[in-house]
Amino acid sequence: MKFFIDTANLDQIAQAQALGVLDGVTTNPSLMAREGIKGADRIMAHYKAICDLVDDCVSAEVISTDYHGMMREAEMLAAIDPKIVVKIPMLADGIKAIKSLYEMDVRTNCTLIFGAGQALLAAKAGATYVSPFIGRLDDLAIEGIDLIRQLVDIFDVQGFETQVLAASIRSPLHIVQCAEAGAQVATCPLSAIMGLVNHPLTEKGLAQFLADHAKNNG
Ligand code: G3P
Repeated sequence: MKFFIDTANLDQIAQAQALGVLDGVTTNPSLMAREGIKGADRIMAHYKAICDLVDDCVSAEVISTDYHGMMREAEMLAAIDPKIVVKIPMLADGIKAIKSLYEMDVRTNCTLIFGAGQALLAAKAGATYVSPFIGRLDDLAIEGIDLIRQLVDIFDVQGFETQVLAASIRSPLHIVQCAEAGAQVATCPLSAIMGLVNHPLTEKGLAQFLADHAKNNG
């Protein structure tokens, strides 16, 4: 499973990249707003700065909701850097845009997926990734991880190349569940990735090893 970090914060992206396990970044307009990035020029420059920190796959989302607007933005975003993946919202015009971008060899990530039918349409149109939001389903007392399992099964049975990019991940447990379910990618906050490192028995065991070494070596 590939690990993406779900943030527009450059320090957090650099920290995750330094761990050596990062495969990409996802952003959205809310995450850009959280960093105070506004205005077309600053937004474009920020995407470029993110691209310069990582090896590949930086999802940058369009703001338009009509086909022509999405295509215009997609072309501008894709021109920033070959690492850019254009993020398109799940809309009828979005599906049309994904199809056109597929034909132009531009990678896409269809976002705001909450049902299997939506993911199926995006895959048919040629999306590189679909982003089911599992945390937001959990918030409604609907098991988000069930949607991941369902999409992995459908894409496998149907032979789609589209990858399941599990999004709206809130915890280390979500990451482990996504890996178990066969998601090809999980995009996670840094806190959830770092949460995978820790186990109290690891800490206790290491303290014991170091104490024994110190006693034995004076
Ligand atoms: O990748 C989508 C993600 O940013 C949404 O996460 O926590 O706002 O549901 P959240």
